[in-house]
Amino acid sequence: MTNISVDHLTGIKDLKQQDIELIFKTADSFKEVINRPIKKVPSLRDITIANIFFENSTRTRLSFELAEKRLSADVVNFSASGSSVKKGETLVDTVNNILSMKVDMVVMRHASPGAAEFLSKKVNARIINAGDGTHEHPTQALLDAYSIREKLGEVAGKKVVIVGDILHSRVALSNIYCLQKLGAEVMVCGPTTLIPKYIHELGVHVSHNLVEALEWCDVANMLRIQLERQDIKFFPSLREYSMLFGLNKEILNSLSKEIVVMHPGPINRGVEITSDVADSKQSIILQQVENGVAIRMAVIYLLAAKIER
Ligand code: CP
Repeated sequence: MTNISVDHLTGIKDLKQQDIELIFKTADSFKEVINRPIKKVPSLRDITIANIFFENSTRTRLSFELAEKRLSADVVNFSASGSSVKKGETLVDTVNNILSMKVDMVVMRHASPGAAEFLSKKVNARIINAGDGTHEHPTQALLDAYSIREKLGEVAGKKVVIVGDILHSRVALSNIYCLQKLGAEVMVCGPTTLIPKYIHELGVHVSHNLVEALEWCDVANMLRIQLERQDIKFFPSLREYSMLFGLNKEILNSLSKEIVVMHPGPINRGVEITSDVADSKQSIILQQVENGVAIRMAVIYLLAAKIER
């Protein structure tokens, strides 16, 4: 397979296993490029990409921008704050105005689930979802699975537990789809109030006991509590959450085997993960961020190949 089967990347749900393997193979080549003294290839000199972010971001935004620049694309960045969105302009009008400046591809982060899919049907450009509310964050899941493959040799057959605020997490949903398509077994772990009621429909194991979940897994992906998406209290206090579901060195060292620790970021040190775990040899948090650039180069490159030019 040499072409990706989708025209836009709005979610992992739409990808075939072969698409994910093609993205990984392409990312392997780009990882080699970005470790050279000159970290750039001329592949997309004729492409212009707009990064439009309606929500805060550090890793995803910088990673996409670096990926685009390392492919030699022209790049424009748009933040909702300070834009005419504040004067009442709609999403479609905003994007169509940006596209009329000869933009070919849009990378969008938005607070509304389904915003990327909606946009892909309304405008004439390739759309990449950089996180849509509580729905999906496909490139995060791809870089997470790629990092597991790099660390453990393969994803198939591995056991991955996702711990924390599953209810509000786009990273959890995209990871579940991605890991299952690649043949991994997935468990979610957290307080009952932060596990969605439909979770069993996704074919994952569920645990409410952190140590039991960690003993089961090869990899633990620790999620942040998304206080910004919670309008009611889902647990009594952060301190109590941390006592029951926070990963610390004592728990890590008590396990019968050495597991790999991941986190999509941003980390709340001392809440879902302590500093000594986040910065330990078992943590691959910064490798995840490094791999994000190669994965995003691969996604952009493969979607750009489908643009008529
Ligand atoms: N992992 C992630 O999406 O981080 P940012 O919100 O900083 O982009």
